[in-house]
Amino acid sequence: MAELKVSKVKRGTVIDHIRAGMAPAVLRILGIDRGFSDVVVVAMNVKSSQLGSKDIVKVENQILDEETLKKISIIAPQATINIVKEFEIVEKRGVSLPKELRGILKCPNRNCITNAAEKVESFFVCKQENPIEFRCHYCEELVEAERAELIL
Ligand code: CTP
Ligand code: ZN
Repeated sequence: MAELKVSKVKRGTVIDHIRAGMAPAVLRILGIDRGFSDVVVVAMNVKSSQLGSKDIVKVENQILDEETLKKISIIAPQATINIVKEFEIVEKRGVSLPKELRGILKCPNRNCITNAAEKVESFFVCKQENPIEFRCHYCEELVEAERAELIL
């Protein structure tokens, strides 16, 4: 799709430069589902000079906490977080990929101690950044960020 006009928000957060196709995953991280009552604007596959095409998620009245930003950085490392007040952007920043993730990724290895009945909190260490991969501290299983299953 070419140009697309998406309405501006009065107050809230605009998550911009999300890789095309990843907006639904961002919505899941934000807990946006039935019953969510603030205004949400989602644009997918819009033109971007930097990324070719991108997704955007705008959420009114929300300021994201650090834990949420950490999760977003895993699946959308190029995302820009814009904080909007009175229609103006008052803060713009990127997300930074944490070196270590505690309690955020689910280990895909069913025999991993973090999946045992007596649960040990999952602990992953970033192994490389392109493509982003995390390694389970306990069983050494490697997880690609794009396929990562998050504990939400
Ligand atoms: N935005 C919005 N509501 C506002 C202000 C901005 O929804 N009141 C959105 C814009 O639509 C855009 C994003 O916030 O998707 C960033 O806005 P802006 O910084 O003005 O755009 P760019 O300069 O293109 O951003 P960047 O330099 O980060 O690419
Ligand atoms: Zn593991």
